[in-house]
Amino acid sequence: MPADEGRPPFLLVVDVGHVIELYSEFSRTGGHYTPYPDTRGYRVSLEDLRQESVRDRLRAIWTDPLSLDPARVSARITRGIANRLGKLAQSLEHDGHEPELTSAFLMRCLFTMFSEDVGLLPHRSFTTLLESFRDNLDYVQPALEQLWQTMNLGGLSLQLRQKLIRFNGGLFHDNTAIALSRDQLELLIESAHADWTNVEPAIFGTLLERALEPTERHKLGAHYTPREYVERLVMPTIVQPLREDWANVEAAATQLEDAGDTTKAVAMVEDFLTRLTQIRVLDPACGSGNFLYVTLEHLKRLEGEVLESLAGFGATQGRLETEGITVDPHQLLGLEINPRAVAIADIVLWIGYLQWHFRTHGNVLPPEPVLKNFHNIQHKDALIEWDDVEPVFDADGEPVTHWDGRTTKPHQATGKEVPDETARLPEQRYIGVRKADWPEADFIIGNPPFIGTSRMRAALGDGYTAAVRGAYKELPESCDFVMYWWHKAAELARAGAIRRFGFIATNSLRQTFNRRVIEPHLAHKKPLSILWAVPDHPWVDAGEGAAVRISMTVAVGGDQPGILKTISHETPGNDEARQVTFIDWSGKVHANLSAGVDIDQAKPLLANAELSCPGVKLHGSGFIVTPERAQKLGLGETPGLEDHIREYRNGSDLTRSPRGVMVIDLFGLEAEEVRRRFPAVYQHVKEEVYPEREAKRGRTKDSNKYADDWWLFGKVRGHLRDSLSDLKRYIATVETTKHRTFQFLDRSILPDNRLVNIALDDAFSLGVLSSRIHEIWALGAGGTLEDRPVYTKSICFDAFPFPSPIDTDKARIGDLAEQLDAHRKTQLAAYPKLTLTGMYNVLVKLRAGEKLTPKDKTIHEQGLVAVLKELHDELDAAVAEAYGWPADLSDEQILEKLLALNLERAAEERAGTIRWLRPEYQNPDGKDPSTQAEIAVAAQDDAQKASKQRLPADLPGRFAAIRSVLSELPEGGNTDSIAGQFKSANRKTVNEILETLVGLGQVSCSEAGVYTQ
Ligand SMILES: C[S@@+](CC[C@H](N)C(=O)[O-])C[C@H]1O[C@@H](n2cnc3c(N)ncnc32)[C@H](O)[C@@H]1O
Repeated sequence: MPADEGRPPFLLVVDVGHVIELYSEFSRTGGHYTPYPDTRGYRVSLEDLRQESVRDRLRAIWTDPLSLDPARVSARITRGIANRLGKLAQSLEHDGHEPELTSAFLMRCLFTMFSEDVGLLPHRSFTTLLESFRDNLDYVQPALEQLWQTMNLGGLSLQLRQKLIRFNGGLFHDNTAIALSRDQLELLIESAHADWTNVEPAIFGTLLERALEPTERHKLGAHYTPREYVERLVMPTIVQPLREDWANVEAAATQLEDAGDTTKAVAMVEDFLTRLTQIRVLDPACGSGNFLYVTLEHLKRLEGEVLESLAGFGATQGRLETEGITVDPHQLLGLEINPRAVAIADIVLWIGYLQWHFRTHGNVLPPEPVLKNFHNIQHKDALIEWDDVEPVFDADGEPVTHWDGRTTKPHQATGKEVPDETARLPEQRYIGVRKADWPEADFIIGNPPFIGTSRMRAALGDGYTAAVRGAYKELPESCDFVMYWWHKAAELARAGAIRRFGFIATNSLRQTFNRRVIEPHLAHKKPLSILWAVPDHPWVDAGEGAAVRISMTVAVGGDQPGILKTISHETPGNDEARQVTFIDWSGKVHANLSAGVDIDQAKPLLANAELSCPGVKLHGSGFIVTPERAQKLGLGETPGLEDHIREYRNGSDLTRSPRGVMVIDLFGLEAEEVRRRFPAVYQHVKEEVYPEREAKRGRTKDSNKYADDWWLFGKVRGHLRDSLSDLKRYIATVETTKHRTFQFLDRSILPDNRLVNIALDDAFSLGVLSSRIHEIWALGAGGTLEDRPVYTKSICFDAFPFPSPIDTDKARIGDLAEQLDAHRKTQLAAYPKLTLTGMYNVLVKLRAGEKLTPKDKTIHEQGLVAVLKELHDELDAAVAEAYGWPADLSDEQILEKLLALNLERAAEERAGTIRWLRPEYQNPDGKDPSTQAEIAVAAQDDAQKASKQRLPADLPGRFAAIRSVLSELPEGGNTDSIAGQFKSANRKTVNEILETLVGLGQVSCSEAGVYTQ
């Protein structure tokens, strides 16, 4: 199936002529398919086809499968239930019951209703019990208290005439019930009639919070944060890394089983399962637990897959679960300051957990006690702890108060929710304030409160705001409240204490005041990286139910590229969530939530190998002579000396005024031969170079060699000489310079160390290197020195993908490049004061439309800079055409395209095709591609040996390493090339791993033996 269609929501297994089994997975995220609608009804026999409802269901699977998603149906049911509970709560409070007591009572009621629907209590027993009290209202309260007491401890219930399992946990520990009126009882009975099996925990918490909180109740009908939005952040933060771990373990276990070691395979999977049941996820502002619930559900899906795989290996399912080793709410940790939300989050997680249990296990009861008191959701401030608080009084001795920060009322005119200033809390001074510690966790996720800096005092009070700002002095006071959470999580990620964190934050994350929190983390020497980000996403504010815009960020410790997702289309969806489609950008994600192309990913290309080299490094200025001195030493008279006293160029010779100097180059001669053939030169070097070399003897690793070989340059660059030996000219550029220009130098000229020299003599190559496309690459890939760009040859040249143009393009580019080179040389020769830098300074001004100074005008005249500009413009257009790209691409687009082309070429080279730039030198024997491929792999091996890693020792680690190599090879690779990515990897081992991955469908293999992911 095309990848962009996602996974199918249904899988049907047909035992022809007998039964059809239905399995569904509506998140379509690569999760675990579960029996649909449940373990009781998923098998459709031929006989069942007589029922119209069954036929309708089968039809909908083909025509509109998503209409069967219980979450959609559940959302409606859930809203209905919450509305009734809201009404009931209001009525009880109206009778004078405290909101706290009312909400605790209703929570017990709702869990009891849920229990009778899923089978934790006898079916409909609670509803029947409530109905039986219609005429005996006085009995309701004592009867409910007795029932809950029995549920707490387990045992015989006189009310239900059944033995009950032990529920325990915090919920029924306090069994207080409330006496009900007839109307209230009816509302409760109505609620009990609803189908609680499919209540949607992802939204139930929010609705329940609104229903039970008197100040929130009027928002009950407002929108809620859709599950889809929550899932969007949960996936890259938590699920994706865990699924990657599982894919590696599954593959490793499969290989062990194939090798006959089933015991080890089972042990490996059981070990993963045990670790999965120990993963902890923290939401440090968890509200009623929606992020934690969605996470729990995905952990359960993954657990389901692992259990299935265990069964496939012949292990008994359920052994670990009976031993209490199962994914359950103890792994979902929350911090929350609203006590009612704490209680709701707790119950929401248990409802979600039990729903999953009954969906996958059918009627099997969970282990007792059903509810365990894990204390996983803590009623605690996530930012600060303090020793004491004291009230603040004004000058008249009156207590100072502030708005409670949450209570709102509809605005008289607009009807919009606005702060209700009558809801006030006493202002407090915090004593002994310190940063709060968070419980240990593997992942952190959530939607901490956003309060703009200007509203913090009003919403949180002066005392609290001052306490938080005082505890986090390292943060700018101008940052948003949510950034305190971001900062804390970033510190934990950088310290390696958590694997990843993902937060919803304001969409002003990109603005300076918030960037000042993010930037230091990204730029730190032990850095944080943003792995995944959506800078601007629609959202529904849980409190207000209003449509807002937010950002999502997932970050990880270390230096890594990431994915930036920008929305390309956004349309209202069928339910609460807007439908969005994304454009993905990969590269380093910066603090302003933009992604740059990560050129560091580029690979050196064999096509460009062996051609670029810096010039000679003298280690002795005595080698440099003026032409007059050279004459005195015999140049022009002594035969053969012309090969040893040569023209010499450094960077400023090319870009500013040439010094017109020469250099004594005695490469290839022994000292004695120099003395015999060129005694004057011998004496000059002995006197001008030798003493300095001797004086430095022993100072550095190489200085002894320099002293011994005193008549030779420190770095003679034999390789450069070799590469230039068959050429009449070569291309040179200055390593560190303001304008990136390239020019031909005659082979007789010796370049110095600060020139990067390219052993190509064709004008087409000069043209490509002189184009804007190469300039942008060189600027993006190279470094800088004191603001001047540096041409780092290993990436600027070796990794640069040349175009493969047709001959006419090549000729045109070559012609323009010859004109360019000749034009500059002619003008520079004609005007001794004219410099290349001067000409290009004026060219830059011309392009920017800047006014020219009188000095610029002279340069413009002398250098014929308008002609220079035209030549460059035509060259840029011709080179863009040679790549087959439009001429007006942005710099970013050019970099993206070049990087993609580099990776494509690198893959092509691994598969054996190398587009040599100078085949007669680089590949003189013209070996066929397969042999070339071997040379290629060997050469690349040498070049990259230092950076290569060994194949990890543990089997899952090996699978992870090979999958990671494959993910970087869009064109794939064969066993040899993949093995070649590791230091001394055994080919057979690598092949076995690849074949196992093919067997599992994680990798495919072509007939030619090329593996792709
Ligand atoms: C935006 S809500 C998110 C809740 C939930 N994830 C949702 O989407 O409904 C933020 C939550 O953080 C809680 N909160 C505010 N300040 C807090 C603090 N200092 N420590 C812990 N929780 C806090 C609020 O009570 C609220 O429930």
